Amino acid sequence: MPGWGLGRILLVMVNETGVPVLVIGGGGREHALVWALRRSARVSEVVCAPGNAGIAAMARCEPLEVTDVAAAGALAERERPGLVVIGPEVPLALGATDALEAAGFRVFGPTRAAARLESSKVFAKEFMERHGIPTARSARCVTIEEVEEAVRGFSVPVVVKADGLAAGKGVVIAETHRQAVQAAGEMFTGALLGQAETEVVLEEFLPGEELSFFALCDGKTAVPIAAAQDHKRVGEGDTGPNTGGMGAYSTDTLLGGGMRQWLTTKVAQTVVDGMAAEGVPFRGILFCGIMLVPRADGTVNPMVLEFNTRWGDPETEAILLRLETDVLDLMEAAVNGTADQLEVRMKPGASACVIAASGGYPGKYRSGEVISGLRDVPATEEVVVFHAGTARRGEEVVTAGGRVLAVTAVSEQGLKEALEKAYAAMGKISFAGMQYRRDIGWRALAAGR
Ligand code: AMP
Ligand code: GLY
Repeated sequence: MPGWGLGRILLVMVNETGVPVLVIGGGGREHALVWALRRSARVSEVVCAPGNAGIAAMARCEPLEVTDVAAAGALAERERPGLVVIGPEVPLALGATDALEAAGFRVFGPTRAAARLESSKVFAKEFMERHGIPTARSARCVTIEEVEEAVRGFSVPVVVKADGLAAGKGVVIAETHRQAVQAAGEMFTGALLGQAETEVVLEEFLPGEELSFFALCDGKTAVPIAAAQDHKRVGEGDTGPNTGGMGAYSTDTLLGGGMRQWLTTKVAQTVVDGMAAEGVPFRGILFCGIMLVPRADGTVNPMVLEFNTRWGDPETEAILLRLETDVLDLMEAAVNGTADQLEVRMKPGASACVIAASGGYPGKYRSGEVISGLRDVPATEEVVVFHAGTARRGEEVVTAGGRVLAVTAVSEQGLKEALEKAYAAMGKISFAGMQYRRDIGWRALAAGR
């Protein structure tokens, strides 16, 4: 057949030329994305903006302020990538996808309107209510008087959420009604987050264990990728203040088959159908923050705490080390609308990621500390030290953020072995003030999962 021959030739040409990819962002998540993309036979080059010292060892880095959508557009015009991958939530909320798509680029990441599932708590709560997705009872307030009135309808503790993006600082769990009113007041004035909020959400407190569930969406279909568990508190045993995430793990056994199916159909696919029906197709990663609320009979009732419209950090580091499917195939399926044909394969067993953070994080910390021991942990198929906040200073790699490294390992034997490998690697690395949790995965190990 002549058509066949032409198709074959075109396929070979595409294979030979490959797809140049531009990744926007510069944390541990983006290092893991760059690492996974570099393993794809179909990717010809990876450029990352702004990247970090670890990313620079495997991709060309270009300067970029990720909040500068116009600069991202100008960079794309210079680089002419075949695919742009947007890592963090802020450029998505600012419409980076819309701008790049309007300029003719293919983009992995939702449009500004679709990213409202993350960038507006009010939108997300109302969306869940419209589409029957189980979530905590809530009230939306635009004045402090409304908060004072509505809070009486909630028992304590009660959760107060700022509407907009707040880098993990926009949620306050108030032990009393007074505290809730005070937190809401500080959200309205800007005292809490530095910018004044126009709306807050009061929400019923849900007890239980948290789970991060990731699905790939192409506007029509949601395909499950994996579940992971993050460790948000800075201290061992889940104590101390909240952070961006101090470690994560992913195992096959985190989700029973019934739960995986339920989260896929009742949550992720319901979101995709609902967004499509509202004229805002959702393409990209849907990260469902789930609370497994215990029932009296020992089973759990899964409820959605929040959506994020991007990969999680540090969940992504753990998940991508387990991903067997070519990550470019996965991302292109979302862009091309072919997720229904995508097969997501993960290595059996488990993976774990342990974050090395600067001393004092999540409060004040010092940057510029020399990191030693990195050369003693060469990247292998099973252990990779992803860089989160690092920079190069001459020959040295120095700390440049609160979360510094994401030491990640995978093992077919299971979580215990993955953790042992990650901690063995961590033991070789040091910098002044370095802190890390020694109990990542503790719940799963304790429960024999
Ligand atoms: P969110 O940004 O909505 O995920 O909230 C951040 C964190 O606050 C979550 O990961 C939970 O640990 C906690 N949280 C949020 N909403 C609730 C809730 N309704 N009940 C209990 N904890 C919550
Ligand atoms: N690990 C939580 C987040 O990425 O928001």
